[in-house]
Amino acid sequence: MSDAALPIPASLEADILSALGARSIVLVGMMGVGKSTIGRRMALRLKLPFVDADTEIETSAQMSIPEIFERHGESYFRDGEARVIARLLDGGPVVLATGGGAFMREETRARIAAKAVSIWLRADHDVIMRRVRRRADRPLLQTADPEGTVTRLLTEREPIYGKADLTIASRDVPHDRIVEECIAALHAHLCGEHAAQPPADVASALR
Ligand code: S3P
Repeated sequence: MSDAALPIPASLEADILSALGARSIVLVGMMGVGKSTIGRRMALRLKLPFVDADTEIETSAQMSIPEIFERHGESYFRDGEARVIARLLDGGPVVLATGGGAFMREETRARIAAKAVSIWLRADHDVIMRRVRRRADRPLLQTADPEGTVTRLLTEREPIYGKADLTIASRDVPHDRIVEECIAALHAHLCGEHAAQPPADVASALR
């Protein structure tokens, strides 16, 4: 066989991009697990745009998240969040970091299942506490007992986050290691021998 006839090994990234098509990659999970940091780096690797749903919500509302909660309340924020995520998924493929509560809404989960591959960045209570203490801009944690709030939210949310297509442990290792694990998991999920196909029934229902 001449050199010209040898198959060129495709990169993991190229394989993932071609299997994704118009679908996005959506990061879900609690506050402080690193959705934006990991998402931004993953987007660079895959040469996809990175979008942060919280930032998009703030831009469309022209207000910060604490201001939205204070002036309009959580349910107003959640409705806006669901609308923004639906719009962003229609403009895929992107790497999308969602706010910690977004995946709790069933309609948003169905949209993500139809139009994206989801990754739950899962972190322990202690890792989350260490990271969320660094910032005071999360209205849900402005309580007398933030630690207890995180425990309660984890109990409520973990079974739902577990519905994501993939789970990656977010922990105190270099970010690039987590990105590497996400890329490997995406490749196995999308391009492996038993690669999952997009759920046609859900996709057509939402088209
Ligand atoms: C929230 C998480 C925040 C933000 C809002 C509510 C939540 O986003 O959307 O404060 O319900 O967990 P991050 O997960 O990016 O901190």
